[in-house]
Amino acid sequence: MELLHSATFSSKQRLLIVVTIAISLFTIIPLLYPFVEDPNFFLKQQHPSQTSIIELQNGVITTQKSCDIFSGEWVPNPEAPYYTNTTCWAIHEHQNCMKFGRPDTDFIKWKWKPDGCEEDLPVFDPFRFLEIARGKTMAFVGDSVSRNHMQSLICLLSQVEYPVDASVKADEYFKRWRYETYNFTIAAFWTTHLVKSTEPDTSHTNLFDLYLDEADERWTAEIGDFDYVIISSGHWHFRPSVYYENQTITGCHYCQLPNITDLTMFYGYRKAFRTAFKAILDSENFEGVMYLRTFAPSHFEGGLWNEGGNCLRKRPYQNDETQDRITMRLHKIQLQEFGRAEEEAKKKGKRLRLLDTTQAMWLRPDGHPSRYGHLPEANVSLYNDCVHWCLPGPIDNLNDFLLAMLKREEGKGLLAQARKKLS
Ligand SMILES: *[C@@H]1O[C@H](CO)[C@@H](O)[C@H](O)[C@H]1NC(C)=O
Ligand SMILES: *[C@@H]1O[C@H](CO)[C@@H](O)[C@H](O)[C@H]1NC(C)=O
Ligand SMILES: *[C@@H]1O[C@H](CO)[C@@H](O)[C@H](O)[C@H]1NC(C)=O
Ligand SMILES: *[C@@H]1O[C@H](CO)[C@@H](O)[C@H](O)[C@H]1NC(C)=O
Ligand SMILES: *[C@@H]1O[C@H](CO)[C@@H](O)[C@H](O)[C@H]1NC(C)=O
Repeated sequence: MELLHSATFSSKQRLLIVVTIAISLFTIIPLLYPFVEDPNFFLKQQHPSQTSIIELQNGVITTQKSCDIFSGEWVPNPEAPYYTNTTCWAIHEHQNCMKFGRPDTDFIKWKWKPDGCEEDLPVFDPFRFLEIARGKTMAFVGDSVSRNHMQSLICLLSQVEYPVDASVKADEYFKRWRYETYNFTIAAFWTTHLVKSTEPDTSHTNLFDLYLDEADERWTAEIGDFDYVIISSGHWHFRPSVYYENQTITGCHYCQLPNITDLTMFYGYRKAFRTAFKAILDSENFEGVMYLRTFAPSHFEGGLWNEGGNCLRKRPYQNDETQDRITMRLHKIQLQEFGRAEEEAKKKGKRLRLLDTTQAMWLRPDGHPSRYGHLPEANVSLYNDCVHWCLPGPIDNLNDFLLAMLKREEGKGLLAQARKKLS
């Protein structure tokens, strides 16, 4: 345990600096881009409604009717939280809202109720999760929100067991954790945009170079080792970038350079997902399940992140009380590109699944650290953090969705086995 603590803290400073720099460069300019939007709020994948879900519960196979778990509303859950900042050491300093004096706790006490299902989405059962995950490996591919999700999972699992550090590199952004009793490994793969990118050389430019048709091999080369890969991306695409395709500049997002076409962030976002999915479909040794965890929006109100915007709400939104056009558009792009890739995946016998949690997270303006991610006097650029999520907090519920999807996958496996035996 001591080792874990020292490992966590020795690198804390660096993490802090990088996170601060990362956030300080966030530029939220999309308001400059008027666009015509499809009126469908949070366009949904068409989920087959009549198929049965086979589930293994305490060794007994049960069947349930399938339903769309991703569209619904938040309902009170007085039993939460399931861990605190004293029982879980994996809470990142900036997301330890109680430590920095957040006065209200109601934001922790909600669970998800899907519209079309008979029951609420079950709250996370760490024993059940670890049974499914036994002998398996799971990768979280993405940015600091992806890491936030992974840390939430570690905290929820801490009700059963703490992992040991099993990192293969001394890089805080590529950590691995192993649950010894269950032989289950979690890994984090840092990628800002999912595709190959070069950070701005801040002395000359504030522009990222994004190679929209080139995979980020820091994760694509490693996924062959994983049974589950959870990918996500979003916030970094708001930043000014130059787009390369076929190793030539094809345009940019808010670069303000002469003779370079501004294609908007939406163009780059679409291409980045297309390339990421292609890399997964083309990977010869990846035989696992890929989950796309859809965009988790920020909730700045009264200004942008650097203009005094803040997130002060204490309760979830009721459904459709409000909408955010940019989130809607990013989400729609994700679903469209996922749909394309899924067609291809079916032909190749690969498994791509959707963790379509954008609507649920959009309805949680109350779940961010705001000013409780640091000491009041701290000089940090993202003073009001409305991007990441407090732990404990609504991001814990992403693991309720994840477990529900893992159970479905297990059910499909059982069904396939049963069919095999019968034939
Ligand atoms: C946990 O939160 C409490 C407030 O609820 C705070 O006083 C304490 O310092 C925090 N502890 C840690 C280890 O973060
Ligand atoms: C642990 O899991 C890995 C796969 O993740 C497997 O290769 C290995 O054999 C397992 N070890 C034991 C002791 O079960
Ligand atoms: C990429 O560029 C090369 C050389 O400029 C060209 O031959 C090739 O056709 C281009 N490929 C695509 C897909 O545009
Ligand atoms: C922009 O392109 C035009 C036509 O190709 C060229 O004459 C001009 O010098 C370019 N301007 C810059 C700043 O590169
Ligand atoms: C806050 O930090 C920035 C750079 O990180 C520095 O330029 C600025 O002077 C600092 N402000 C104060 C009040 O320390």
